[in-house]
Amino acid sequence: MKALVLSGGKGTRLRPLTFTTAKQLIPIANKPILGYVLDHISQAGIKDAGVIIAPETGKDVKGYVKDGSAWNIKVNYIVQEPLGLAHAVKTARSFLGEDDFIMYLGDNLIGKGINTLLERFWNEKLDNLILLKEVENPTRFGIVVLDSQGNVAKLVEKPKTPPSNLALVGVYIFSNKIHQAIKRIKTSWRGELEITDAIQEMINQGFKVKAEKLDTWWLDTGKKDDILVANAKLLDEYIKRETKGEIHESKVEGRVTVRENARIVNSTVRGPCIIGENCLIKNSFIGPYTSVGNEAHVIDSSVEYSVILENALIRGVERLEESLIGRNAKILKNQKHKTLKLNIGDFSEVEI
Ligand code: G1P
Repeated sequence: MKALVLSGGKGTRLRPLTFTTAKQLIPIANKPILGYVLDHISQAGIKDAGVIIAPETGKDVKGYVKDGSAWNIKVNYIVQEPLGLAHAVKTARSFLGEDDFIMYLGDNLIGKGINTLLERFWNEKLDNLILLKEVENPTRFGIVVLDSQGNVAKLVEKPKTPPSNLALVGVYIFSNKIHQAIKRIKTSWRGELEITDAIQEMINQGFKVKAEKLDTWWLDTGKKDDILVANAKLLDEYIKRETKGEIHESKVEGRVTVRENARIVNSTVRGPCIIGENCLIKNSFIGPYTSVGNEAHVIDSSVEYSVILENALIRGVERLEESLIGRNAKILKNQKHKTLKLNIGDFSEVEI
């Protein structure tokens, strides 16, 4: 069993953050989503992973994953233009050989490991196991229709009139039969070779395709607005009470991780929260479900349910809520003047 981790794409839906980084590297609870994906692959005992990268952001992905040894995985990088998920499998053909493989989209995450899924795939000698989750906005996903016995009857990619609300989660297990199916499909209306079409082709050819409804949460961070939700979920799931930094005259309540050399001075921090390395939190309140990235400073401010990325500066802001603040961004409030002075990059969004 090999793994194919997709970490390419353009990330247009997550601009402006993706102007400077790959979408899979946006930190959630201060760790790139791709890191959690590799944790799952490693926990399943898979030792060989192909990581698909884009020409534009591949360098950053390589910079983070390196040779995979942090996860005890041997990593092969495969460069692909973003022409669809089935195109990615085609591009990785020589790495995959005739092996079974799990394809895990690097901007997706599920609330449990993949071990039980792999066991089912092997026990039932399947050619494909897909994961499904009910969603409220089925036009944004690959959608599956099940028959009365729960077998996969039909798959459609991003339907205008959805035939069901069961979305394809970005975690799929395949046998080598997928390669024949990919050879037979054509480019879709959105100009991509769709994995959804390839799975439909496997069903048409009579291969063993099964679906399982996911009994835990699923995060698809590649879609705008989901970062704050993902952050809250992961803080809830993983954050422990742990202090490696310094705390002076402050209240730190509940599950709060304070990383190395962070300083919390005359402030209140209420968990679940993570405060990154070398941060300064001074005369401030940090409320639940907030991640503060390494080197960020929050001074004379109150922040809640927010993600603040590395080296950002927030000063004098009475109340910042449900906000996503990019790397090196500054939000400064001048108490004397009521005028707003803004320097906003392309695709930014400010609600005042
Ligand atoms: C892709 C798949 C879609 C699946 C989704 C899950 O969509 O094509 O079937 O439901 O991932 O994240 P895309 O990321 O290309 O919009």
